[in-house]
Amino acid sequence: TMASINEAKQIAAYKAVDDHVKSGQVIGVGSGSTAVLAAQRLAERFKQEKLNIRCVPTSFQARQLIIHHKLPLTDLEIDPIVDITIDGADEVDANLTCIKGGGACLLQEKIVASNSKKLVIIADHTKDSEKLGEKWKKGVPIEVVPMAYVAIKNKIEKTLGGTAELRLAKMKAGPIVTDDGNFILDWKDFDPECNWEKVNNQLLQIPGLIETGLFVNMAVMAYFGMNDGSVKVRI
Ligand code: A5P
Repeated sequence: TMASINEAKQIAAYKAVDDHVKSGQVIGVGSGSTAVLAAQRLAERFKQEKLNIRCVPTSFQARQLIIHHKLPLTDLEIDPIVDITIDGADEVDANLTCIKGGGACLLQEKIVASNSKKLVIIADHTKDSEKLGEKWKKGVPIEVVPMAYVAIKNKIEKTLGGTAELRLAKMKAGPIVTDDGNFILDWKDFDPECNWEKVNNQLLQIPGLIETGLFVNMAVMAYFGMNDGSVKVRI
């Protein structure tokens, strides 16, 4: 019997929580549908084992998850050092470089990850790729100041190629607005052979560009839920 995508997400999420979460830790709670399953497992263990943990959200959604499960809520102001963040990704390559932000939560996710001793990615096998862009076709999400979106779009397309499209809302006319009040450009058709560290640094030089969904040298491990019900770990 083959595992469904949701089952694949769940086995990766549960194993990552079971392998890494210990009493006494500050935990970064990720965003997206896979992180929902990790929060579920975290809540189970919190109740069963009476874990002493504090949870830092990586988005409005994560904050709601923490509140819903009655987990102890904290933030980076109170707990500036996070022991471990467990978060999803849209794609993970052979070097553990990730594309994140499919759910538009990349800014707080990157801030929390960069203040974590460890970032562990949880995903189903469809997100496991050799080269970034091979699997995730919706582009690299880039968070921008609203008044600068056209200027930034033009700069990206001129200097790095491809196209940067303003992400539009589904149930509202106009663009989606992030948790921090910004817009998202989805950068597609980039050069698949590029040096991601360099490209990320180039992007971050553009005034008004707040953050990219490129997570380079951040994740230390990725857990992939496989079709056969096993978990593949990349270090
Ligand atoms: C949220 O903005 C993203 O970075 C998520 O971590 C990513 O989109 C993964 O989401 P799923 O687990 O729902 O695929």
